[in-house]
Amino acid sequence: MKIAVGSDHAGFELKKFVLSWLERHGYDFEDMGPYSADSVDYPDYGHKVGVAVAKGTFDQGILMCGTGIGISIAANKVRGIRAANVCNPDYAALARQHNNANVLAFGARFNDEESVDKILESWFASEFEGGRHQRRIDKIEPCC
Ligand code: RB5
Repeated sequence: MKIAVGSDHAGFELKKFVLSWLERHGYDFEDMGPYSADSVDYPDYGHKVGVAVAKGTFDQGILMCGTGIGISIAANKVRGIRAANVCNPDYAALARQHNNANVLAFGARFNDEESVDKILESWFASEFEGGRHQRRIDKIEPCC
């Protein structure tokens, strides 16, 4: 399991925690930036992580911005990406089980390390359930 991790400046500090969590739990990962807390534009990192996952270089992505909203919207513009902006461990589990989400996003201004620890545990403990959920995912296509 190879994980691509990115953020914007608002997620920069929390990204450090995520990277250390992945290291502690034995995941193979890459920090795709940014590498300082200077102001950046979240689409640049949402796209970068999204493309890395869509191309198959990485299995999953993790993204953070202030709310998780902008960076997940950007990642979802990459074909094949299902980025879920989650706010608690149940959302993280359901994003994997029902939506086969391949990118986890959350808001760094609304989650502390304790809540992110639980979100990550739940995300990685959960598997896609397939069946009717696969049929629904197959219907998620650009339509106009
Ligand atoms: C940056 O101030 C903020 O707009 C960004 O981190 C994010 O919350 C956007 O969705």
